Amino acid sequence: MGHIEDLSSVMIKAKSQPSWTSAGLETNSHWRITLPESILSSTLVLHHWLEARGYTWQSPEARGMRIQNLDLLANVMRYHLTQTTGVVLLSGFDVAEYGESASRLLLLQLGYVLGSVLDKRGLLYDVCDRGQDHRQANVLFSSTCTSPGYHTDSTDADLMPGIVSLLCLRTAREGGVNRLANTLTAYQRLLRSQPEVLRRLCEPFIRDKIIVGEVGTRSHLDRLRNAFPVFEWGRWYPGLTCRYMRYWIEAGHDKAGLPLSEEDLFVLDQFEATLNQEDITYQLQLQPGDMIFLNNHLIAHDRTEYLDWEEPEKKRHLVRMWVGNDALQRHASKPDDMKLNHLYG
Ligand SMILES: [Fe+2]
Repeated sequence: MGHIEDLSSVMIKAKSQPSWTSAGLETNSHWRITLPESILSSTLVLHHWLEARGYTWQSPEARGMRIQNLDLLANVMRYHLTQTTGVVLLSGFDVAEYGESASRLLLLQLGYVLGSVLDKRGLLYDVCDRGQDHRQANVLFSSTCTSPGYHTDSTDADLMPGIVSLLCLRTAREGGVNRLANTLTAYQRLLRSQPEVLRRLCEPFIRDKIIVGEVGTRSHLDRLRNAFPVFEWGRWYPGLTCRYMRYWIEAGHDKAGLPLSEEDLFVLDQFEATLNQEDITYQLQLQPGDMIFLNNHLIAHDRTEYLDWEEPEKKRHLVRMWVGNDALQRHASKPDDMKLNHLYG
């Protein structure tokens, strides 16, 4: 299921899916959303209510609580994530004034309204340099200050988050710039210029995966089983899926005793080169309080290497949330002006 036989048919089927170049994304301003005042104030009221009762942003008691207009905002976001850009940037939460805890509450509540929040490494996962080296066993790139290169999140064959979101709490001293690339645009370019490369990308590659706290040795069969193509159609939701991270593909093949052939390395080089074409890459530096949401099937992300602050309280800190594919399957109609006015009224 999901295998792409006819490479060209994807272009017809994917007509309503987001495809952009960096210049196209720059000129489209709809995906940059300012947090409506009604949602901000309602979040702060809920946060205060929870605190007064000894609860926190992650207490189960917060789950059923309603933030005014959050469903309207989630619908607008879902529309852009599935049909226009695959990216939404939500700005306007002043972390210094309202606190980290309230920003986490808003992120998680948005996740609940969008779909199922995945609890793989906690509902919200702290992305910060823990002084680790990704070459050591079971270390995530998100625990280091190195650049992971373009990737989509999760290398587990059985787990594919639909939406990846990142809340910025603090920026690094230097670097740590976010890079985004549209993989449907990369698919289109490869189809035109190197269809043989694209064909190989539609066949399985073995992936290594991180199992934090893993005990014992993984069986050879287990390693072979964690294999899937870079490009698939319709396996997780009705659309194109790109699942990619160069490092974990190479590690997966090496650890399974089946190192990548020269031909396969060439294919990955060509894909990397396409994603890194200057007119495909869109760069942005998240500011404290910014929340970015990515359609993890279509938008590959990366961050540049960074130099952090000496003081522990100033160090770069992002918070990641994964939302399931149910968030992308619900119908999202184009938001009409009346609804948008209501949101900002
Ligand atoms: Fe990531």
